[in-house]
Amino acid sequence: MLKVTIAKNEQEFDVMAAWRIIGQMLKKPDSVIGLSTGATTKNMHAIVSDIYGKYPFDTSQVTLFNVDELTNLPRSYAGCCYTMIAEQIARPLNIPDERFIMPKTISEDYESECRSFQQALEERGGADLQMLGLGYNGHIGINQPGTPFGSETWVSPMDPVFEARVRKETGVPPEHQLGGLTLGIRTIMHTKHIILIAKGEHKAEMVRQMLKGPVTEDIPASVLQLHPSCEFLLDADAGKYVADMAE
Ligand code: GLP
Repeated sequence: MLKVTIAKNEQEFDVMAAWRIIGQMLKKPDSVIGLSTGATTKNMHAIVSDIYGKYPFDTSQVTLFNVDELTNLPRSYAGCCYTMIAEQIARPLNIPDERFIMPKTISEDYESECRSFQQALEERGGADLQMLGLGYNGHIGINQPGTPFGSETWVSPMDPVFEARVRKETGVPPEHQLGGLTLGIRTIMHTKHIILIAKGEHKAEMVRQMLKGPVTEDIPASVLQLHPSCEFLLDADAGKYVADMAE
């Protein structure tokens, strides 16, 4: 049985998603939590940080990381996932550098960066919770359509639409050739609990394919149908074709 939760509007969605993150930290103070960047997660990170600012809870043992990162991009660029997560949530929650695990964005050897990133998470017992956004074409992390389900952490080529968006939103100059360092699909599937989050009408058709279509490498997010503990948290717009599946 797939667990589908539909919030009645965007505000309720943001608050529900924020409380999923806070709830995990309260339930297990040494949680390892994977986050995602993007428009979907911005408000929820702000809500988590606001609540912590007002009513601090214990974050001294929490480990945070992001599911993906752009390569060949200095951390000084706003579009760098390290920088977004640091500013939106890791620093506001006083997470020290040693428990904020991110691959380097500039490296001579990205394969070794991938291995160390994955290994650092494995040494901590793997992620307890992974918050996952949904790409416009069904990608998760930066695993684009066609990525083998058996993939481990790797550097994926950027698809042109995603790359154009990153460049537009973050002002990355053309001389920076971008790649997408991402936890692989197999790595993601090893997470104890996953919450797939999607909001907005522009995600509705992809949500339908992810949940009602076949499990296929053409829609990477469809693999989540096979995860033993995955919640699909949607707002009413994103969930309009799957309302019959909601609890
Ligand atoms: C990018 C990120 C993903 C994110 C996705 C959704 O591809 N690499 O991690 O989940 O965008 O972004 P948005 O929430 O802006 O739609």
